[in-house]
Amino acid sequence: MKKKMSILDFKRYKEEGRKFAYVTAYDYTTASIVNDSDVEVILVGDSLGMIMLGYKDTVAVTMEDMIHHIRPVVKGAPDTFVVGDMPFGSYNKSIEQGVKNATRMIKKTGCDCVKLEGGVKYAPLVRAIVDAGISVMGHIGLTPQNATQLGGFRVQGGTPESARQLIEDAKELEQAGAFSIVLECVPKVVGKAVSEAVKIPILGIGAGPFVDCQVLVTQDLLGMYGDFKPKFVKLYANVRKVMVDGLNQFHKEALSGEFPSDEYSFNKEVDLDKLY
Ligand code: KIV
Repeated sequence: MKKKMSILDFKRYKEEGRKFAYVTAYDYTTASIVNDSDVEVILVGDSLGMIMLGYKDTVAVTMEDMIHHIRPVVKGAPDTFVVGDMPFGSYNKSIEQGVKNATRMIKKTGCDCVKLEGGVKYAPLVRAIVDAGISVMGHIGLTPQNATQLGGFRVQGGTPESARQLIEDAKELEQAGAFSIVLECVPKVVGKAVSEAVKIPILGIGAGPFVDCQVLVTQDLLGMYGDFKPKFVKLYANVRKVMVDGLNQFHKEALSGEFPSDEYSFNKEVDLDKLY
C-alpha cells in the first residue's frame, strides 16, 4: 500500500530528483480508484466546472461547488495527498477574502492544501495564507480562470520576455512560501528553465518532460470526457468506450430478458395462493 505524501516530501522529492504524478478527481468513486493506484497527488480542480457540471469554462465555479466535491474525494482517498482548488472570485478581491476562503476550504473539507492561480501579483496573498497556517500550491503559465485576458487557451512563455516573467513568478511564489507550483502549457525548454530556477517541485501540465511531476486530468487520460483532447494529453485507456459498451450490453439483455437470470434473482418459492 502506498504511503501518503506529506508537505515535506514535496521538497525532499525535488532534492532527490524523484518524480511523481498528479491527477484530478471530483467524486468519491474516482478518488478511491486513484487511491488504489500509485499516483501520489489528487487535485480537486475547478475543471470540475466543465467535467462534472457541463459548463463551458471554470469561471462560474463557486466555493460551494468546490467544497461539495472536495469532501467526498478526501473521504475516498485517505492515502493520497488532496489539493483543493480555489475558484475564480474566491481570492481575487483582497487578501482578507483569500485567507477567509482558503481557511473555509480547509476547515470544511479536510483537504491537504489549497491551490490558486497567479504569479508575482498573488505572492502577498500566498504569504498571508501560509502565515494563516495553510499550505499553498501556486499555478502559473496558462491560468484558465483568466484565459480571456491571456487571449484564450494558448501556450504561454513563448518569448524570452514571457519566459523570464514565468521564472520571476515561480521565484516570487517560492519566496512567499508556496510549497510547489503547477506550470501549465509552456514550451518544454521553459518548463526546464522554471524547474531549475526554484527549489520546490514544478508540476507540469503541458510543460514537457523536464519538470518534477506530471499532471493530467483523469477524465482526459482515461478517455472519459469526450472527443476534446489537448495536444499534451496522452490516452492511457478508453474508459468511455468500455462504459458505453457495458451499458449497451445491459440494454440488450434487459430487453431480451437474458438479464436477470436466476443468478441475479431471489429464487425462494413463495406460495402466492396464500397471498389473498
Ligand atoms: O482545475 C484543474 O484541473 C487544474 C489543472 C489543469 C492543473 O487546475
